[in-house]
Amino acid sequence: MITEWTTELRYKPYDQWPASQIEDIKSKIAKSHWRLGYHIQPTTGLLNDPNGFSYYDNQWHLFYQSFPFGPVHGLKSWDHLTSDDLVHWKDNGISIFADTKNDSHGAYSGSAIVSNDQLFIVYTGNVRDDNWVRHPKQVGAWMDDHNQIQKMPKPLINKPLVGYTDHFRDPQIIERDGKFYIIIGAQRTNKTGHVLVYEADEVTGPWQFKTELHFTNQEMGYMVECPNLVFIDDQPVLLFCPQGISKDVLDYNNIYPNAYVIGESFDWDTFSFVNPSELHNLDEGFDVYATQAFNAPDGRVLSISWVGLPEIEYPTDVEGWAHCYSLVKELTIKNGKLYQTPVVENDKLELEQFPTGKISAQTKLNLKVDADEDAEVSIISNEDEQLQIKLNSKNGKIIVDRGNAGQQFAQVYGTRRIATVEPGENITATLYFDNTIFELFINDGEKVITGRVFPNGTEFSVKSNNVDVEKIKLNKINK
Ligand code: FRU
Repeated sequence: MITEWTTELRYKPYDQWPASQIEDIKSKIAKSHWRLGYHIQPTTGLLNDPNGFSYYDNQWHLFYQSFPFGPVHGLKSWDHLTSDDLVHWKDNGISIFADTKNDSHGAYSGSAIVSNDQLFIVYTGNVRDDNWVRHPKQVGAWMDDHNQIQKMPKPLINKPLVGYTDHFRDPQIIERDGKFYIIIGAQRTNKTGHVLVYEADEVTGPWQFKTELHFTNQEMGYMVECPNLVFIDDQPVLLFCPQGISKDVLDYNNIYPNAYVIGESFDWDTFSFVNPSELHNLDEGFDVYATQAFNAPDGRVLSISWVGLPEIEYPTDVEGWAHCYSLVKELTIKNGKLYQTPVVENDKLELEQFPTGKISAQTKLNLKVDADEDAEVSIISNEDEQLQIKLNSKNGKIIVDRGNAGQQFAQVYGTRRIATVEPGENITATLYFDNTIFELFINDGEKVITGRVFPNGTEFSVKSNNVDVEKIKLNKINK
């Protein structure tokens, strides 16, 4: 077993690892009781940002940032998943390796659009020189309908713009009225975070820098990772991860936040949000980061979140794997607010209702709290651990406490999270529980609280007070 993950080990070429490394992790995973039943998780090693979420050749495509040899951030590749229904995913294995001079130290995050009957992928090639100085390249690649990927030999954007540092990554490609745009996370040389806009007439370039994206007047910390622009009924919504942002600008508890801004409309001449909203947390929970969304051809705006955070150790690390994804969510705007709901296809997971308090590790709870109640529902394991949810409709506070829910981690960031809704009104909520992840959708997705929990127990029951609870067994579809 590897006890110290040196830089050398993290960046060792994939073909130099003995097969035993993956086999060892697989045998630990086979004994794990923390694996998930219906959420995307890595086969082995570490999964982080969702990439290239798209619909192409009659299938949904999704890639995950992968380091398959251990639960650490090392030489990243893209692992390719496909689905007919956004719920059942087939793992096609690694499809983009860090194996050229333009991505020698990692195929980092990016996105994809359909163009010329192929899927056009844009991602950051992480390149380091002999002095370990970073030279980020924005790489283009074509995927055909046999899922074969060809990287373009020359980067689309060869280096960071003058005035910006080597923190220059996570391109999102967008097409509008026959023109192409890339928005990308960047850091000015004065160490402030921004999003840049590039434009091209052809998807393959040449790519011209246009401007910084104007979506706020506030300072966004020292780096914006994973900027992601979608349009909901013509209103622009930017999802992004402003690292180091002041808590006066955005109140957050996690090491890094995943935020969003909504504009009334978007000015394509100046690349500006018209009347941008304040910044909000996309998720009020513990572990959401790097959410990727896109305008799907069926008219929906779909998103998926990495449920894991950079620089935090998780209890599964000892088993050689880390992190998972949220369910695929649909984004809508109601009364100027962003709503997130699991896509309707997830209803396919539903089996029978549980007649008693006993539930399985894969369960959905539908919760209803009348106005002016102080309600509580807990998921208890046979080791007496509990994930506690308080829903107070008098003061409109929903509190999730994972402090007694099993093995603890990231405690310095607190074990409770609070979401607020209108006081004095009914609260409805849906909890998707899947062994070591929960996703709580409050008032049809007005607020969401997502988190990981690592119970030592393996049998679960529900205890509740002042709340109407419907308990639905969900299908365990992961192998
Ligand atoms: C965010 C991130 C991205 C980068 C990727 C590398 O989690 O740091 O900025 O492209 O992960 O895996």
